[in-house]
Amino acid sequence: MASSSIFLLISAFFLFTLPLFALNVSHDARAITIDGERRILLSGSIHYPRSTTGMWPSLIKKAKEGGLNTIDTYVFWSAHEAQRRQYDFSGNRDLVRFLKTIQDEGLYAVLRIGPYACAEWNYGGFPVWLHNIPGIKFRTKNDVFMNEMSNFTTVIVDMMKHEKLFASQGGPIIISQIENEYGNVIESYGNDGKEYIQWCANLAQSYQTGVPWIMCQQPDAPSPMINTCNGWYCDQFTPNNPNSPKMWTENWTGWHRAWGLQDPHRTAEDMAYAVARFFQYGGTFQNYYMYHAGTNFGRSAGGPYITTSYDFDTPLDEYGNLNQPKWGHLKQLHLLLKSMEKVLTHGSVRSIEYGNNTTATIYSYDGKSSCFFGNGNAEDDATINFENTIYTVPAWSVSILPDCFTEVYNTAKVNSQTSVMVKKENAADDFEEPYALKWQWRDEGIEHSDKNGFVKDSLMTVEQLLEQKSVTNDTSDYLWYITSFNVKNTDPILGKDTTLQVNTNGHIIHAFVNGRHVGSQYAQYGKFNFTFESKIKLNVGRNEIVLLSVTVGLANYGPNFDLVQTGISGPVNVVGRERLDDLTQKLGDEKFIIQEVTKELAFNKWTYKVGLRGERQQLHDPLHSHRWRWFGDNLPTNKMFVWYKTSFKAPTGSDPVVVDLMGLGKGHAWVNGHSIGRYWLSYLSSEDGCSPTCDYRGTYSGDNKCKTNCGKPSQRWYHVPRDFLNGDDNTLVVFEEFGGNPWNVKFQTATVGSACANAHEGSTLELACQGGTVFSRIRFASFGSPKGACGSFGAGQCESPSALSTIQKACIGKERCSIDVSESYLGPTGCKETNRLAVEIIC
Ligand code: GAL
Repeated sequence: MASSSIFLLISAFFLFTLPLFALNVSHDARAITIDGERRILLSGSIHYPRSTTGMWPSLIKKAKEGGLNTIDTYVFWSAHEAQRRQYDFSGNRDLVRFLKTIQDEGLYAVLRIGPYACAEWNYGGFPVWLHNIPGIKFRTKNDVFMNEMSNFTTVIVDMMKHEKLFASQGGPIIISQIENEYGNVIESYGNDGKEYIQWCANLAQSYQTGVPWIMCQQPDAPSPMINTCNGWYCDQFTPNNPNSPKMWTENWTGWHRAWGLQDPHRTAEDMAYAVARFFQYGGTFQNYYMYHAGTNFGRSAGGPYITTSYDFDTPLDEYGNLNQPKWGHLKQLHLLLKSMEKVLTHGSVRSIEYGNNTTATIYSYDGKSSCFFGNGNAEDDATINFENTIYTVPAWSVSILPDCFTEVYNTAKVNSQTSVMVKKENAADDFEEPYALKWQWRDEGIEHSDKNGFVKDSLMTVEQLLEQKSVTNDTSDYLWYITSFNVKNTDPILGKDTTLQVNTNGHIIHAFVNGRHVGSQYAQYGKFNFTFESKIKLNVGRNEIVLLSVTVGLANYGPNFDLVQTGISGPVNVVGRERLDDLTQKLGDEKFIIQEVTKELAFNKWTYKVGLRGERQQLHDPLHSHRWRWFGDNLPTNKMFVWYKTSFKAPTGSDPVVVDLMGLGKGHAWVNGHSIGRYWLSYLSSEDGCSPTCDYRGTYSGDNKCKTNCGKPSQRWYHVPRDFLNGDDNTLVVFEEFGGNPWNVKFQTATVGSACANAHEGSTLELACQGGTVFSRIRFASFGSPKGACGSFGAGQCESPSALSTIQKACIGKERCSIDVSESYLGPTGCKETNRLAVEIIC
């Protein structure tokens, strides 16, 4: 090997991997110091089980390219210890491999061990068997709980130590977290809560990991635990301990989606504003919650009603594609902040107040100064005089001047491309038009009891209605409640008008009386207990009532969220109503008397059966499903409780694969035996609350503005990670619960369809397609004073005549191109104001 290539190898090693020697991590009030260097830590959450091992390297690479130096993740107890003392770290649960992938990229890691996570994860990350241990009380001074918690945290810490993953051992983990936002709920646990948090702190300390511990949203965090902030804005946060640096563990990049709700959107401008302000006001660590949020595969979505997509409007979208302009706009901010690391972490600080929420903050160190000009006013731009120069700071923005003279970045001026994402048809499946998969099907069937009340494979029979997860341990969404009773022909309940009334804590109920479906009902988002009511017909003799109760994600947040009830709570009544016509006549025509007879069934004998037959038969898994008979003809549509199966070819190329489930109702889908999550297309979000425009200015709070997708299914497309696919031979299985039509189901790829930009003079505009596609056509380009927005750009009063041809030359036929937004490159415009370049270019 030539000596130059040896040199290259060695330098590549040092560039891209962290040194494998111990790092000393310490902190003071101003900064976290790693190995003697005071650091600005730019971090992003990526939860390993919400993507796949095959996705990890590229997600982490894109995070690094986006200017992050740290990756944060929770540890998900329920994923690793789904059954007590049986641990699973395989596949996308391979925490060690995930951390090593981070380390291989030369990034640091923050490990939020919890083990309470929240995270819109089922039951907040706790395994449900925990709930069923006698005497347990969650997240408080309770020996049973504390024993289980410390058992799990010890398993994790020991594993990390064994693999030398703490920075003190040469690994990537620079910070760990114990508990999560306990301060938000501590009041509800009284004094026991206070003792519990002290116990958590002691437990964490006892591990002697050699790296600091944090407790987010814990205003009384016992020293040396560092109290950190979560929220949309944390610039005004101060930790409780004077020795703690100002850390932001969750900067919410958007918000989660839920069945029945619209899509939240947080703008790139507002994100950048929040980050810039945090560093203006002395921040040292900020973490995007989330940076890549991913997918709630399987039954991991919490709730109730969290969707399978956990997109969260993150810089990397659910599928791992760049969410532009968010990714690019933040990247530029990160690079700039990092270039100012020394002055920000060592410098002296002074500020000038200009009124109306406008402040200049000046950091000075070693003869160098850097400035932030922040305008927190939601409507008014500010014009300020700083050292005899006039600057305009747009409303709700921060300008950064690394030399306190030239504005290099303003959070409201986005110079990154906006990608218009599209779904492309699956080119591998060469169907004749129209595209249609070939389906097979199989009925699920309804459970029932025999004439003696016996139910095959039932779990138990008791004279009581039981809470759902207490019975199922949450091994399935489905629990059958079965009972029967006799009616004599003289029974007054046999009136003309009989109804079944069931009170349930949700989330969905399907009711069957004497083998006939009498109705189904689901809770509307936010109100999960409801009364189901349906007309029924009773027989003389034996009558059977079968109720199937379905959960859609267990609660993950709030005081005592673990005790939130699910399933049929009762009363369950059969009510017979009869109009007493004799009496009615005496009272006159207008009035009549109704006699009501109620049969209460709550204390009847109820037989419980967990799960679906198809679940036990493992119909979702091609290794098992072939053992059962599937039908090819007379494909039923809009029929409840049907399993469907089809095969398809993996789409060619490298773009992420999605399946469009439009037409289906509600259920669960699997590809080659891997769950791609629950789906629910028949529940549409409300028509109200979306608007075509979105003002980044003013406080964002998750659902107060900028929502999209009104009146549509909350989630139409479902991610099929490429590592679930095998070339031409793939199986999709769905269990359809409400009834739907599979004929429109389609596999597609998600990619960039076109790129738009509205870049300011002085910036460099990077434009890119994706997945090997090149720019084919420019729909619009004007350098000067263009008007309008992406999709409706128009030329202004002045423009350069040569800009279009310059951009054509630079971009057409290329996958990416870079444009210097200046008159010297794009030609003189003759405009008086600063020029802007508007482009819309097709991939
Ligand atoms: C926080 C919590 C996170 C996540 C986030 C919002 O309260 O700590 O785990 O749930 O809210 O989605």
